[in-house]
Amino acid sequence: MLRCAILVSGRGSNMEAILKAKASGDLPIEVAVVATDRPGAPAITIARRYGVNTFEPSPEQAGDKRTFFSILTQKLQELDVDLIVLAGFMRILPPDFLARYPERIINIHPSLLPAFPGLKAQRQALEYGVRFTGCTVHFVDEGVDSGPIIDQRVVPVYPDDTEESLAARILVEEHRLLPACIRLFAEGRLRIEGRRVRILPPTETR
Ligand code: GAR
Repeated sequence: MLRCAILVSGRGSNMEAILKAKASGDLPIEVAVVATDRPGAPAITIARRYGVNTFEPSPEQAGDKRTFFSILTQKLQELDVDLIVLAGFMRILPPDFLARYPERIINIHPSLLPAFPGLKAQRQALEYGVRFTGCTVHFVDEGVDSGPIIDQRVVPVYPDDTEESLAARILVEEHRLLPACIRLFAEGRLRIEGRRVRILPPTETR
């Protein structure tokens, strides 16, 4: 079974959506570890509740980017991880880390990329005045939220939306989209062709 690492920095609701999908038998993966760069992140408490192996470096280790990524790499190698899922992980990955896991790192972002990359995507969408935004799951490359797109979901923006109400509406879709994309990866149904990701029908993999 596909061995997955989930990287988190905060609340952990996307991570929990993955763990729930797995618990209900919907996701053919092993969660080898949930790792964070923010010791004490609420996500880690949730992961432990699900009985998942967690990796939480000391504040000193986490504070030094080089040290953090070198101990994380060692951990992921030990655990023989096949896929790394960034679920609200708020750090840019260094090039040597990316190079170790080509086409094996995916991220969820709360906008319809390439619109509104980076931080505060929901605020960017509100300020720009778009009528629709959403969420994107994509492979991670050297850029910021710029890798090949696996799938997206569209969410309307209402005139009286606040950043919070919009974020909450997007989050509902995030929690569906991320497990669905992980499942496609686990089933071997994603083919990267340049910038485009082809989703193979279930039968082609048999
Ligand atoms: C989610 O909305 C996720 O899309 C976003 O952070 C939130 C994490 O929430 N990620 C990014 O903005 C990455 N650029 P969660 O910890 O409850 O899953």
